[in-house]
Amino acid sequence: MQALASVFRHIARSLVLCLVGHLGMQLVRPAPEHLASYVAALEDGWSADNERGVEAAREELSRIQADPAAFLASLEDREGTGPPVTLPDGSTARRLPSIRRWLWDGELCGSIGLRWQPGTTALPPHCLGHIGYSVVPWKRRLGYAKSALGLMLPEAKAVGLPYVEITTDPENIASQRVIEANGGVLVEHFIKPQQFGCKPGLRFRIMLT
Ligand SMILES: CC(C)(COP(=O)(O)OP(=O)(O)OC[C@H]1O[C@@H](n2cnc3c(N)ncnc32)[C@H](O)[C@@H]1OP(=O)(O)O)[C@@H](O)C(=O)NCCC(=O)NCCS
Repeated sequence: MQALASVFRHIARSLVLCLVGHLGMQLVRPAPEHLASYVAALEDGWSADNERGVEAAREELSRIQADPAAFLASLEDREGTGPPVTLPDGSTARRLPSIRRWLWDGELCGSIGLRWQPGTTALPPHCLGHIGYSVVPWKRRLGYAKSALGLMLPEAKAVGLPYVEITTDPENIASQRVIEANGGVLVEHFIKPQQFGCKPGLRFRIMLT
């Protein structure tokens, strides 16, 4: 009887969390009022950079400390005028036009970024997909990534893309579910470029109707 009650409690909690997730999360353009929560997440060990992890988080903390306004401005770089990007092997590459949005439900829940080349769907080999995202570990499994990707697709359409490509690791089931929930279709298995360690990857495509 007690076990049954516990199962019901678990289901009820999941339903509530799911509902709160869908209703309460929005994408925000990073602004001064969000910065303290973003810094707290970085200091807790989370990173918006799925490839470079903690190292990228440390760099962002220094940039925020040095010049918070410049850091926030750099997250809306529609001309791709920012400094080169650092890749996982330490090499650098030209920065593409990009925007970043933060997942927000009253506090920082994660980050989602869009990057593109004007006038084409093509991306340079060092750029793994048009969209990348990460949810802070303590806000996962609330439907936030699925909602965030859905909210980012109109931004991709607005910059002229007829579709977006998103890549994931073959073992990243959660990310694959996020993409598929937004209409993504697997287009190929591929090997990541040398800068990313020549590991296997999956490439999905979402048509923007
Ligand atoms: C992948 C990630 C963004 C998912 O975020 P999230 O907000 O927890 O995802 P959602 O709550 O929207 O869940 C999406 C789906 O994945 C499932 N899922 C979530 N975490 C899972 C896990 N660890 N294992 C299996 N499935 C999982 C959910 O149940 C849901 O499936 P459903 O549609 O069948 O219900 C998050 O785990 C993360 O930030 N991971 C590290 C960074 C990363 O991998 N980014 C993607 C790089 S391509």
